[in-house]
Amino acid sequence: MTNVLLTLEDVYKKFQDGQTEVDILKGISFSIHTGDFVSIIGPSGSGKSTLLTICGGLQEPTTGKVVFKDIDLYNLSKEELTEFRQKHIGFVFQHMHLIPYLTALENIMLPLVPRKIAIQEQIERAKFMLEQVGLADKANRYPNQLSGGEQGRVAIARAIVTNPSLLLADEPTGNLDSKTSKEIMDLFAALNKKGQTILFITHQLEYASYGNRMFEMKDGAINEAVLK
Ligand SMILES: Nc1ncnc2c1ncn2[C@@H]1O[C@H](COP(=O)(O)OP(=O)(O)OP(=O)(O)O)[C@@H](O)[C@H]1O
Ligand SMILES: [Mg+2]
Repeated sequence: MTNVLLTLEDVYKKFQDGQTEVDILKGISFSIHTGDFVSIIGPSGSGKSTLLTICGGLQEPTTGKVVFKDIDLYNLSKEELTEFRQKHIGFVFQHMHLIPYLTALENIMLPLVPRKIAIQEQIERAKFMLEQVGLADKANRYPNQLSGGEQGRVAIARAIVTNPSLLLADEPTGNLDSKTSKEIMDLFAALNKKGQTILFITHQLEYASYGNRMFEMKDGAINEAVLK
């Protein structure tokens, strides 16, 4: 039995740069399996964020296919794609994107709002997530009252509160010091151990090695590194 979760088939992405078209992704193909913990590493501008958004149904490739289980993502209507993302994808953005005027608890509740879940249950679930990321005592803090690492953990809790099949994270350790970055990576490792499939971007080899697989991006192409 196969447990392939996500497959990219010959994905190209072109962007217009003035008069010229630039190929940012040049024929990317790979598969991710349920339970994988995959890092993407590569120089700035190599197309990592573009690739991650394409994987998460946020941006259509110029050509090529993205298949999630047996769903051909970019064949879906806009509404179906939104529904797909809400159901299957958790996204941690590079700059966390926490809503400054909502508390930690309320930020985590956000993805549950479109699901028509009773408010009390939303609160219970968000509280449970706060416990999972070790912030049970900070539920009522606003983002500016939290450290960078704590904000990162809130962003991760928010991304996984819907039990997504796939957690995508764009440099979750981006602006954090090395101690806090390790805490975030340890949290990812713990989530992966419990079965969470994760695809994340990093600039640092040190963090890439937390995963069980590593992809290197260069000049629009991707190569899987052999890990010991
Ligand atoms: N909407 C867009 N229109 C035009 N060019 C774009 C667009 N989005 C990204 N690019 C270009 O595509 C290239 C890849 O961008 P991307 O953000 O994917 O890189 P990255 O590998 O994530 O870089 P970083 O490590 O700095 O975050 C860059 O040269 C960027 O300027
Ligand atoms: Mg990026």
